[in-house]
Amino acid sequence: MNMAVSSIRDEKLQDSDFFRDVLAGLAGEQKTLPCKYLYDEAGSLLFEQICELDDYYLTRTEAAIFRQHITAMARQVGPGALIIEPGAGNCEKVEPLLEHLQAPSGYYPIDISPEILLAAKERITARLPNLEVIASIGDFTQADVWEGLKNLSTQKRVLFFPGSTIGNFTPVQAENLLGFFAAKLGCGDGLLIGTDLVKDSVVLERAYCDSEHVTEEFNKNILARINSELNGNFDLSLFAHRAFYHPLRQRVEMHLVCLKSHLVQVAGRKFEFAEGETIHTENSHKYSISGFNRLLLRAGFSPVCHWSDPQQHYAIHYAQIS
Ligand SMILES: C[S@@+](CC[C@H](N)C(=O)[O-])C[C@H]1O[C@@H](n2cnc3c(N)ncnc32)[C@H](O)[C@@H]1O
Repeated sequence: MNMAVSSIRDEKLQDSDFFRDVLAGLAGEQKTLPCKYLYDEAGSLLFEQICELDDYYLTRTEAAIFRQHITAMARQVGPGALIIEPGAGNCEKVEPLLEHLQAPSGYYPIDISPEILLAAKERITARLPNLEVIASIGDFTQADVWEGLKNLSTQKRVLFFPGSTIGNFTPVQAENLLGFFAAKLGCGDGLLIGTDLVKDSVVLERAYCDSEHVTEEFNKNILARINSELNGNFDLSLFAHRAFYHPLRQRVEMHLVCLKSHLVQVAGRKFEFAEGETIHTENSHKYSISGFNRLLLRAGFSPVCHWSDPQQHYAIHYAQIS
């Protein structure tokens, strides 16, 4: 390759958050990769497949709660609201809510995965042509993706955060993130948020280690992404998927286990992997209702109500800024 072209490409590469986060994560004593990077186009499609699996009770349980209580939820949100959805993905869950709301003033989805978000925006605009939809592409933990909100006037802002995405953050990170969200809202504004509840570890582990091995493919896709975007040479067959419930931390941890000692190169850097060593790729924290209400309060939200399924597997909370 032409040297000038290759150094420009390297400069661009080294400027990206993905490059910095991957190199820092692989250099740590416990190797880690931030779970937001699981969602490139292929990862987002795999996640959609996971949501359809029998073993993955989360999506269908949450959907059933929405179906049963959508009118009550729409009443809590109230008329004329602007719905903001961080980590919107394919935006499927918001559609019934938007349809039940009285004259929503707009919809502002944010996602790090552009392909899936832009396709969803087209679908929603075709279905609800009178609704203003502004799709914001990027990391919802960063200030820049929230900038577009300044151009949208509304009487009420409501954050919609389903899918137990909050569970991907440790409780301290979740409190900080919800505090960051609360700062985008004013008095009377709301938060409609889904959390997975603490339950039997067999049910939990089956959800993240499904019998059809789709979660395994989803987890390993992060290595394929590093190979293609950061000149990596991970051999995917030398890693195995592992997911287990950690009762003290109340979370399912997802790891990639190295099956044989070897060296891996990423963007010209070398990383040693010992047999049995893992890369920690995702946390999914589980909550009790009271534990999550306490977290909401610490983050600046007043819990208003929640809806759950008969088995108490999942909950959707409504909270507001008072
Ligand atoms: C668990 S999925 C949930 C998707 C959808 N909200 C649902 O409930 O089915 C997480 C979504 O959040 C996005 N995401 C994860 N971390 C993100 C971040 N830091 N900034 C923006 N989007 C993020 C992913 O691309 C993915 O679409």
